[in-house]
Amino acid sequence: MIDVFRQRLREAWARSDRIFELAPRDRWLERPIDLRHPILFYIGHLPAFAWNQVGAGLLGNGAAHPVFDELFERGIDPIADDGHDAGIEWPPIDEVLAYRDRVRERLLDLVEEVVARTGGDRLADRGRILNVVLEHEYMHQETLQYMFSELPAGTLRKPAGLAEYALGPDSPPGIVEVGAGEAVLGADFDAVDFGWDNEFPQHWLPVAGFCIDRVPVTIKRWREFVDAGGYRRPELWLDDDWRWRERSGLDHPPRWRNDGGDGWRYRTLFDELDLDLVGGWPVAVSLAEARAWCRWTETRLPTEAELHHALYGTPDGTLRRFPWGDEAPVPGVHGNFGFVNWSPVPVGSHPLGESAWGLLDTVGSLWQWTESQFAPFPGFDAYIPSYPGYSTDFFDHRHFVMLGGSWATPAPLVRRSFRNWFQDRYPYVFAGFRTVSRSGSCD
Ligand code: AVJ
Ligand code: FE
Repeated sequence: MIDVFRQRLREAWARSDRIFELAPRDRWLERPIDLRHPILFYIGHLPAFAWNQVGAGLLGNGAAHPVFDELFERGIDPIADDGHDAGIEWPPIDEVLAYRDRVRERLLDLVEEVVARTGGDRLADRGRILNVVLEHEYMHQETLQYMFSELPAGTLRKPAGLAEYALGPDSPPGIVEVGAGEAVLGADFDAVDFGWDNEFPQHWLPVAGFCIDRVPVTIKRWREFVDAGGYRRPELWLDDDWRWRERSGLDHPPRWRNDGGDGWRYRTLFDELDLDLVGGWPVAVSLAEARAWCRWTETRLPTEAELHHALYGTPDGTLRRFPWGDEAPVPGVHGNFGFVNWSPVPVGSHPLGESAWGLLDTVGSLWQWTESQFAPFPGFDAYIPSYPGYSTDFFDHRHFVMLGGSWATPAPLVRRSFRNWFQDRYPYVFAGFRTVSRSGSCD
């Protein structure tokens, strides 16, 4: 177990380094997204978090660096406008990199001590605290990507060996019927090696039958919404969503750009492409925009329980470990996750990821919105004493659950109980959606 954790840490750090290096160092003090910190903050945040959890938190070793441990402790959720850090003097890049390297060294040494710790400490048991660190790093790797997509096109360096964009045919839209049953939400604490506090306990929720899109809504279908004036029709939007839309001037999805004529361009992480070329990719939109689409098409979004049941439930009432069955997730085989492509791919590209009910794109390309507020499961316990706010800070009725995973989600996060969440009016996340029919008919 010691070697496995050391190896996983080294791999995670190598990936983080590759991602940071996509942005030239002279841009590390920029804040690509206004309410987030500059890129340099995240260089310091990952080791600070790791140290505060393992070195200081679990093992009680005191500070790694009396100033940096705290300075880099917390990111900002883009909730409030009070998170502004314009006044902070960030330390020189070299000092932050040195801090990072020192913490990494010490952590590799401490892995053994963590694993050797027995006596019923749940955070040491099975190396859970090391998974806290690993998964925190994975999640930031993804959020960094959507920050980077806000930098001007052409500023990022392409990684070596980048796959060609997948521009092939997409599955046509279609609707599948999901039978009534019990959604099995969450996990049993002892049955999984690791889960965050919000994933427990396991419990059952009845769901009625419903009809749901077989594949997520695509860019070319969203284009129809744009052309139909969807962004100019207040009656399609919730009042608060409309006010946000007006305030922010949003009149097309993030990463789309109108070239002045009839044409649209689409910004990937590295390039700007003709929108028509990527029409088969799932569209990435905020939950607020997805709601407007639903009103326009007289559909609705699935609840968390419905989407979970559609992904993991089966007609015979059993529960699958993964949407496709028991086989461990293989990036590029069961779905477009794990950085096989640094972009979405056409919907329907991974038939081996199909769920028992016939949903495609179960995991990968983009996370999938639900209409459910992010909330504790009955019996919730913030069991990580060094990080009590991981979830509780966001049980505020303003964050909504997304399931699945995106192209930037590594395989270890592909698990049945994993829940992601963001605000409904936050435009940047790699999230799309599928709709549920309102009429109850699957035609
Ligand atoms: C679970 C992805 C919503 O990025 O805000 C990172 C993860 N929490 N550092 C986020 C997280 C603290 C979180 N999400
Ligand atoms: Fe963080």
